[in-house]
Amino acid sequence: MDSGDDKAIVDLVQLTKKAIREDGFLFLENYGVSLEQLHRQFALAQYLHCNISEEDQERLLFHPETSGKWAGYKHPWGFKRERMVYDGITQFNWYSKEWADCNLVPKCILPFMDEIVAFNVFLMESVNRRILALFSKVLELPDDYLWDNVQSHEGGPTGEGYFRHALFRPFTAEAEKLSKGLRFHGHCDYGTTTLLFSVPVTQLQIWGTDEQWRYVPYKAGALVVNIGETLEIVSGGHFKATRHRVFKPPADQVDVERLSLVQFNSSVGDLRMTPAKESPLIQREGLADYQGAFREFQKAMATGIPIPTNKEWREIQIAEMVNTTDSIRNAVGQDWIMQEGQLMNKREFHGVSVVLPV
Ligand SMILES: [Fe+2]
Repeated sequence: MDSGDDKAIVDLVQLTKKAIREDGFLFLENYGVSLEQLHRQFALAQYLHCNISEEDQERLLFHPETSGKWAGYKHPWGFKRERMVYDGITQFNWYSKEWADCNLVPKCILPFMDEIVAFNVFLMESVNRRILALFSKVLELPDDYLWDNVQSHEGGPTGEGYFRHALFRPFTAEAEKLSKGLRFHGHCDYGTTTLLFSVPVTQLQIWGTDEQWRYVPYKAGALVVNIGETLEIVSGGHFKATRHRVFKPPADQVDVERLSLVQFNSSVGDLRMTPAKESPLIQREGLADYQGAFREFQKAMATGIPIPTNKEWREIQIAEMVNTTDSIRNAVGQDWIMQEGQLMNKREFHGVSVVLPV
């Protein structure tokens, strides 16, 4: 990107174009965070999960159903405030309020907040901004188009997005049976980009063009970039939102814990996303008709329903998340359907339907 070598930049744009149209995700190396720096951030996440007091677990407990956010501490009994089946997943999520107020952060991690803030600022302002510049180039628009018009980056290190420390403890026999090995259903993230760090315990799977789930391979220090639904819509379907899920690891890793660090980057909440019509790529090639969020938003627009704002779109999906251990909702005739021989999860939010492989 900064080489000044025109051919290198053209090649990079072509490679990116292929990856985001066909695979829907990117694997980045040499993005400016050393393996040592990354290990330090993982150590801090481990420290938080080992040392958060019971008082802080209670005081900072999340309110997803009422807030539409994961802000705060997620207990290991599902994705609702009320305790359901034990799923072994704990998280701490920083949104703008947690960045701004040290009373909203576990006391044990306070001495290290400056390092966590600096890491997130770098990811947002250097890594994410450059990825968006590359995507703007693919749309043949000025480098800052997506940063200036779509990305939320005001009001804290992650704008309206958030940063997560997650710990996946091994499944209990009950949770594994109820969830059929799923820790997160197949889904797309709703924002711009999701920055995840490759970890040796393999659980993340991506839905390929061959309609199969595949584990993302481990590469020390690499960054996995998922594309969110906002970018699918802005690009008129030329970028595919990454369909992914979290599944139990291969047999030799079922008994180990897995730490995960994620920056979820978000679009500006008040916007209602539509394709960037000024893109020469969209003008020349038209809209891409691919079965995903973009097609569903188009259908909703055609029926005259106002499409949701980005804030409405993300908050309802969080508020109405279904646990993988919910054996009543996760069944054909309830949330699941069979479509062309594939088991799919079918939900509807604000009049827009979402159909994704389980
Ligand atoms: Fe995700």
